[in-house]
Amino acid sequence: MTLHQKLQLAKSEEDVKDAYIKALGLKGYSKNLIDIQTKEIWFEAKDTGRHSTYAMFTQLMHYVQDALNKGEYIPPFLCVIDTHKAAIMKTADVLPFLEKKTIKWGKSASGYTQEALDAVSAYIGTYFVSFKIETHEEEFIFTIKNAIKNGDIIRTQITPDNLKQVFDKWVLMIGREINGVAEENYALLFFADIMSDGTVSTHENLPAELLHKNNAPVFSLGGKNYELGNKDGYRQFWAIYHRPPKAEYRNYLLERRDSLIPLDERSFKGAFYTPLAVVDKAYDKLTETLGNNWQKEYIVWDMCCGVGNLEVKHSNHRNLYMSTLDAADIDVMKATKTCVAAQRFQYDYLNDDIAQDGSIDYSLTNKIPLSLRKAIADKKKILILINPPYAEATNADNVSSDEYVVGKTDVSKTNISNLMSEYGYAKRELFVQFLARLAIEIPSATVGMFSTLKYINAPNFEKFRELWSAKYLGGFVVHSRAFDGLKGNFPIGFLVWKTSNALLRGTKQSIIAISTDVLDKSANPIGEKSFYNLPNSIFLNSWLPRLKTNCNNIPLKNAISPRLGKAKVTLWRDDALGYLLSNGNDVQHSSQQTAILSSVYNTGGGFYINSENLWQAGIIFTVRRAIKSTWLNNRDQFLQPTEELTEEFKTDCLIWMLFNGSNLTASADDLEWNNKKWSIVNHFIPFTEQEVNAPDRFESDFMVQYMSDKTFSAEATSVLQEGKVLWKAYFDHTDVRNVRDELKLNRPDVGWYQIRKALQARNTSGDLPPNTFTNFALAYQALSEKLQPMVYELGFLKI
Ligand SMILES: C[S@@+](CC[C@H](N)C(=O)[O-])C[C@H]1O[C@@H](n2cnc3c(N)ncnc32)[C@H](O)[C@@H]1O
Repeated sequence: MTLHQKLQLAKSEEDVKDAYIKALGLKGYSKNLIDIQTKEIWFEAKDTGRHSTYAMFTQLMHYVQDALNKGEYIPPFLCVIDTHKAAIMKTADVLPFLEKKTIKWGKSASGYTQEALDAVSAYIGTYFVSFKIETHEEEFIFTIKNAIKNGDIIRTQITPDNLKQVFDKWVLMIGREINGVAEENYALLFFADIMSDGTVSTHENLPAELLHKNNAPVFSLGGKNYELGNKDGYRQFWAIYHRPPKAEYRNYLLERRDSLIPLDERSFKGAFYTPLAVVDKAYDKLTETLGNNWQKEYIVWDMCCGVGNLEVKHSNHRNLYMSTLDAADIDVMKATKTCVAAQRFQYDYLNDDIAQDGSIDYSLTNKIPLSLRKAIADKKKILILINPPYAEATNADNVSSDEYVVGKTDVSKTNISNLMSEYGYAKRELFVQFLARLAIEIPSATVGMFSTLKYINAPNFEKFRELWSAKYLGGFVVHSRAFDGLKGNFPIGFLVWKTSNALLRGTKQSIIAISTDVLDKSANPIGEKSFYNLPNSIFLNSWLPRLKTNCNNIPLKNAISPRLGKAKVTLWRDDALGYLLSNGNDVQHSSQQTAILSSVYNTGGGFYINSENLWQAGIIFTVRRAIKSTWLNNRDQFLQPTEELTEEFKTDCLIWMLFNGSNLTASADDLEWNNKKWSIVNHFIPFTEQEVNAPDRFESDFMVQYMSDKTFSAEATSVLQEGKVLWKAYFDHTDVRNVRDELKLNRPDVGWYQIRKALQARNTSGDLPPNTFTNFALAYQALSEKLQPMVYELGFLKI
């Protein structure tokens, strides 16, 4: 529990004192008249947050005065603490004031006079450093521990590790007090503030500047001055932190401006910074694919360079063109002297210089340097090195499930997108828009690009792949978590291409498969992986023909609960035994979107199962559920098998499905839906009533009949045996009323889902001897381990 949390629970002054003693790790303390007394610090404590810091110091200073008068020991530091705040001061700073002995203190420390309070307040205001515990607990603890150890009040350094936290606190204490400034400019003002020792700035020409007017700080930005409303926060903030940051961190901190842009705007602009370890690997890959001399041979243009991270490893800056959307990023590069010999300019690559007729006309903005125009016209070797923004346009009907992007309706409405009608769905994606303009402007450019792998393997990028012509030269994929601020777990590719978009369509280079190195979260190599562009027609979800429907059934939202209100799908067919939910065709969707149920799933996305296609349903279910989704495979598509399937594989899959946690087949009476009562019947019981000691008849013996002429492998047999033990155990007892109601246990033909849940409920109740699942789990694991490699061997997934 944090100090702040403990203080919120404190019921007395003792609790407050104990919380601080523990958090500060105080040694050799006593609790007397002075609330906490150590050799180094005296503390005055209160059990609320109502007393002012000044009042608390007035009390504490009364004790100091007493000790001074008696010639007793006084500590080097004084500290006041309560449930919300704390403040520390050097005793030496107040000694000249106390030595005057002019204060009328009052009878006791707590009975101070107004006169004493006024006099102390007027004197100590510039000496103490205060902390709000809720936001500055760590800094407070650091400061006190340091004071005890080193005998001084040391302010916290601003480093790459705490930059974001410090910025957030700066916004609270200072940013919000700056009158009339837009939130998106906070980061620029913050840098102006920290990159100064209070009077002199560490960098010339930063986009914003810290000035002073009448002894108070004033910020200058874009030719305007901004003043602070209340200045207390400013004083308190800079009493806690040290500025400027150490010289070795300064440029690095400035380059991390991307991480301070409000998340909304950052996602909008796609301002995610490429970590230097990953940049390093990109440079290695470029050397591997383009040769040792690529920096000499190629003119390099990064047209979304941000603050220039991708080029910090470049050694030939004179061949470098760096442009980006945000003028402030260019200013930061100039101030930090990033790539000084490069040509750096503001340029909106998706909107600037795109004429109405779709041609590129540099005279529209005249921002592109003449030397770059000439290199393009002369068809020089040009490498486009980019980590473009990842925003994707979405609308209410099409919310992106990809955490890599934050959907914005208008983000992809750019001039270039108006020319991209042939690209279909992919035109929404900003990184594709960069490629589309490049295809017109520099049709044979070499491109080294960071992006998701959608353009290689996503089904809705088929049109893009038909149009874009490029030869794959090499690349790697890296875990998304290597990038600061990206949520989710998925691969980000850095792929190098030689484009050939000037060629006629007939000679187009097609993307079929690419093989990449794999880097983990720390950009360390961990293996290889291929990604494929495959036609939808060979996907697993097109393997099983969709059966026609001829009636309706109760729509379910899980095993035993109907979807109340309007359901998307209620259609059924009279010979159906169950429903296989099989939504989405890739690994990412399969773990959540695969199940079998005893009536239709309310949103559809699946297949009706009958006696003819049950074997295929078992295989689809097993293949989709047996392989766990990882950051690397989550966009791999399931495919139709390429090898012959044995009877053993089919029956193994059937048993694996029947005893999987996503077998949600069940039975129940009296389910209410659409003003009627419905029953669901379980056709998926692999045992007879006698085998499991059921008290009554099962309505359907379909599964027993279906299995009767089949042989089962040793692994499947042992799953059946251990499954039977649990099925029998279910019939040993009648469950308590609330479990019966919750699981709808009102018929004997209950399903595997109901049995598992009921046994688990009995185990947690502790009223009955526990049923162990261990033997079943071991048997099931053995069958899983047999089937998992077969998913790849039989062609359901490509390695
Ligand atoms: C993913 S960041 C990469 C930044 C930097 N190159 C790096 O690798 O760390 C993408 C950059 O593209 C910029 N950007 C967004 N839209 C742009 C546009 N239309 N034209 C040029 N740059 C753009 C963003 O401001 C952001 O700095």
